[in-house]
Amino acid sequence: MEEQAIQYHFPTGTTLLANTPFYYYDMEVLRATLREIKRNIDGYPFMVHYAVKANGNPKILKEIINHGMGADLVSGGEIRAALDAGLKAADMTYSGVGKNDWEIRLGLSYGIGFFNVESAAEMEVINEIAGEMNTTAHIAIRVNPDIDAHTHRYITTGTASNKFGITIDELDQVVNLATSLPHIHLYGLHFHIGSQITDMRPYMMLCDTVNHLLDHYEGMGIHFEIINVGGGLGIDYSCPDKHLIPDFKTYFDIYKQHLKLRPGQRLHFELGRAIVGQCGTLISRVLYIKENRGRKFIILDAGMNDLIRPALYDANHAIQNLTSRSQEQALYDVVGPVCESSDAFGHDYSLPTTRRGDIIAIRSAGAYGESMASTYNMRPLPSIVTSDD
Ligand code: LLP
Repeated sequence: MEEQAIQYHFPTGTTLLANTPFYYYDMEVLRATLREIKRNIDGYPFMVHYAVKANGNPKILKEIINHGMGADLVSGGEIRAALDAGLKAADMTYSGVGKNDWEIRLGLSYGIGFFNVESAAEMEVINEIAGEMNTTAHIAIRVNPDIDAHTHRYITTGTASNKFGITIDELDQVVNLATSLPHIHLYGLHFHIGSQITDMRPYMMLCDTVNHLLDHYEGMGIHFEIINVGGGLGIDYSCPDKHLIPDFKTYFDIYKQHLKLRPGQRLHFELGRAIVGQCGTLISRVLYIKENRGRKFIILDAGMNDLIRPALYDANHAIQNLTSRSQEQALYDVVGPVCESSDAFGHDYSLPTTRRGDIIAIRSAGAYGESMASTYNMRPLPSIVTSDD
């Protein structure tokens, strides 16, 4: 908790005015977050594999790896990025429902730690490719525990109605398949129930499910070395400065208290957003102030191509005017320049009187910001500045 004293530091002076829009990363916030995670898992058989999809920026990745974390990867491109950042292949897990043959080969050729396997069909292909390469694939089976994480429907993944993992009904069959295939070594079970989870009850339900499954398989004489409970811990988007560092204590305590790990068993986590979300801000400049029938619009030089979360998930990110000295507040619609009505960051958002040229910060954009940016409308990708530059 001593880490809560940490404050977010925005760039200043000419850096602030440079090349908007840009993503800014406060590396001290990232480092404090990583220290807090370490403090909570030290002394336990726990290991965090950072979910690189949240932010694969090489500087961020290096920092995380230097703090002793592994990586959870979902494509050949991410495997290469983790290798480039200096991570040992053994500390990588490779997830995803649609692994291509070349990606499986790439993973096997480096000897990555685990493939999180999502279907019997995928397992057979991995077995075949591993056979051709004269090697054995280390796998965990992704289980769909049918737990509703009560999050946005696009980012809930653990209910039976979505495409992820193997349902509990079919699990025995797939476990038996794994133990029968010659080029597969089954190490564990993998779960991930969704993202931006702020209610801890789904995690407790997950612990119950895992405990039942462990009893069940122990009865069949099957022991798993690894249990991987995925990621999903949410962050405070409305008041980022209040919770700059997520409440890792409560999160890890749930697993410490509710999950009955067997002797020698290790517990893996795949956190993404909770690690990088609060260190990042999208910095943008006000191009115009416009009024339509009494509505005031702030038109930014950052758009949905730079940060797609509000357009895609109705996500609310806190917005701050970093340069206005006005004592008066007004309600604004804060929008981008892209030719779509969904290109908006806030509606009726209260900000100090804002003018052309003001600098606007869109907070909590470190996760799924830069990594989901596109060149839609043939706009350039946002530039990147860190507090270490
Ligand atoms: N493990 C697996 C298997 C995953 O699918 C994910 C995220 C994670 C770990 C990391 O979850 P996190 O700790 O970051 O919640 N673009 C969306 C989020 C998509 C999450 C996809 N899977 C957003 O901007 O909210």
